[in-house]
Amino acid sequence: MARRVAVDEIAAHNERMWDRLARAGIPYTRPQGSPPRDRAGKRRFLDEITRGRFGDTSFDGKRVLALAGGGGWDAILFAELGADTTLFDISARQLATVRALARRRGTEIDYVRGDMRDLGALGSGEFDLVFHQHSLVFVPDAPRVIREVARVLALGGTYVFSTMHPATFLFYESWTGKGWTPKQSYFSDRPVPVKQPVWEFGRVKVVAPTYEYAHRTGDLVNACAVAGLFVDGLWEWSPSYAGGPPGSDDALERILPAFIEIRALKPHRVARAGDGSHPRTGRRARPASARRPGG
Ligand SMILES: C[S@@+](CC[C@H](N)C(=O)[O-])C[C@H]1O[C@@H](n2cnc3c(N)ncnc32)[C@H](O)[C@@H]1O
Repeated sequence: MARRVAVDEIAAHNERMWDRLARAGIPYTRPQGSPPRDRAGKRRFLDEITRGRFGDTSFDGKRVLALAGGGGWDAILFAELGADTTLFDISARQLATVRALARRRGTEIDYVRGDMRDLGALGSGEFDLVFHQHSLVFVPDAPRVIREVARVLALGGTYVFSTMHPATFLFYESWTGKGWTPKQSYFSDRPVPVKQPVWEFGRVKVVAPTYEYAHRTGDLVNACAVAGLFVDGLWEWSPSYAGGPPGSDDALERILPAFIEIRALKPHRVARAGDGSHPRTGRRARPASARRPGG
């Protein structure tokens, strides 16, 4: 019997759903497109996947964690660009897809099956870069993931993660004919209800009611701060702004962002209480107005 890796029933359920989606081969479970063969082309292809969030950082010799990155090109391309790459995902099938493709290409990757909220299989400070795309939505407690990533990041490391935009997410499937109404409050911690749990790709349709959570922007940023990470970029975007028929996802994503993405850095030096203050070089008299009465 397979070892259980999910930390709770939510993850166990989503694991089953992702195995089901992967069996059907919908996008997100099959690497899309084919990267060029040359190094520069591979880098361009990977920069499109990562939206260039790693800038011109060389991946050669870096230790990279592709978190919940099953079914995509990212782990393979990081590895082929010289990174010592680990692919972590909860779905055995999502991992198997990448493993089969990597084997055909002669690309070496380490594979770990697990729940992103428990990175216990990975050592502290083991990674220079963590790329984590579109999957925080599948766990209720994003701060726990961010804390775990902060632990496995090396000093000076970078974490790039994206998820469904927490405001826009509430409006999918909510068109009334006149406008959109949120499915629940922005302040709710409950999974966002899904009316039609059918994932469609061309003629392939799969019923896979995954549990999905909208993580408030402030909570994501504050979770980074609490974990000792420094947010140096936050982006909100939609894959297309072309629009679509009234009430469609495309129409919604023309006026509201589909995704939110954050880049967070682990400082080279661990901050300690008192850091950030500068030693006094000279005594300055406090203005009288600053004196506490009776103080
Ligand atoms: C939308 S796909 C993203 C795949 C890939 N990163 C990409 O962007 O093409 C979400 C991935 O998250 C994984 N996943 C869902 N819940 C997870 C969890 N609790 N821990 C680790 N991976 C999880 C799924 O198995 C799936 O591979």
